[in-house]
Amino acid sequence: MENTKWVLKERPIGLVKDSDFELIKEEIDELNDQEILLENLYLSFDPTQRMWLNDMPGYLPPVQIGEVVRSGGVGKVIDSKHSDYKVGDLVFGFVGWQSHCLVAPTQDERFRVIPDILPLPTMLNVLGTTGITAYYGLVELGDPKPGETVLVSGAAGATGSVAAQIAKLKGCNVIGIAGGEKKCQWLKDCGIDEVIDYKNSNVHEELPKVAKNGIDVYFDNVGGELLETVLFLININARVLLCGGISSGYDATKLPDGPKNLFSLIIKRATMQGFLVLDYLPHAEKALEEIGTWVMEGKIKHIEDVQEGLENCPQTLNRLFTGQNFGKQVLKI
Ligand SMILES: NC(=O)c1ccc[n+]([C@@H]2O[C@H](COP(=O)([O-])OP(=O)(O)OC[C@H]3O[C@@H](n4cnc5c(N)ncnc54)[C@H](OP(=O)(O)O)[C@@H]3O)[C@@H](O)[C@H]2O)c1
Repeated sequence: MENTKWVLKERPIGLVKDSDFELIKEEIDELNDQEILLENLYLSFDPTQRMWLNDMPGYLPPVQIGEVVRSGGVGKVIDSKHSDYKVGDLVFGFVGWQSHCLVAPTQDERFRVIPDILPLPTMLNVLGTTGITAYYGLVELGDPKPGETVLVSGAAGATGSVAAQIAKLKGCNVIGIAGGEKKCQWLKDCGIDEVIDYKNSNVHEELPKVAKNGIDVYFDNVGGELLETVLFLININARVLLCGGISSGYDATKLPDGPKNLFSLIIKRATMQGFLVLDYLPHAEKALEEIGTWVMEGKIKHIEDVQEGLENCPQTLNRLFTGQNFGKQVLKI
């Protein structure tokens, strides 16, 4: 049996090009004890994948030249020599940009068996790391209270849209910032109170107009200049949650613009905190149960943007950085 895989050929600069990678075929080895073989079904595309291609320290080691490109995804077990996994199981984990994944799951790098209850793209979205990121960032760290104002940037994206809708469910006044009419209209359809289209208006001028009562919680997906504007508008005891900073492109060639007004945090006795979903994955049952109920009750809307074909992996990654993705970006193999 053959595996087709994308390996890193050279470190990309800016948006990735097909030529930064090589698509190669190889024979799949016989399984050893404790190994499983997955047929990959869907890949998850996450902005952080672009960072893993840079040769710089991060929370996971960079993908090395010649290695398969790291990505989350869902595969079906087609052979198993591991007692925790049986043929037919659907499994979520770092399956990589490849058609098959031969792996010996460890405690540190678990491959989680997932129930076959909802379409797999949805399981990668609201009921996967995306939903868990939004839930723990907003609910546990942001602690939003009814009547407070919550601002979400990247609000029409996979993570942002879940965070914004959870804030609504918590009784908050929610402001969302997103790029383009279609995404902004969708946010309004989701019940978000105020929406700013940063691509067709001056967000730095519009935000003070709609955040009349200031900002209590900022769920930040973009960083950069917008963060500086927000820090001028935060209320006393505000919580600023750094989920991502995609406005800097996640390219190793330049450092992002930083806010010059960190003193606002002192004046407003505010906290600014970064967080990583990886810390919450091992005990995410509470989040998944609550999000699952909201999804089943139709209280959280979600969209999956499904591209097709392993050969389209590089261009699919770029969609996150050009804003072409509408909803959670996945690829069906
Ligand atoms: N901390 C964690 O553990 C964790 C986990 C998952 C994700 N994240 C972060 O959460 C954020 C969203 O990730 P996601 O997977 O849900 O992706 P996503 O929001 O579905 O897609 C990325 C979106 O970012 C926006 N964007 C791209 N370039 C931008 C720019 N220069 N300025 C402003 N917005 C830009 C685009 O939306 P527009 O069309 O609206 O511009 C694009 O659709 C990312 O920053 C990611 O790194 C963090």
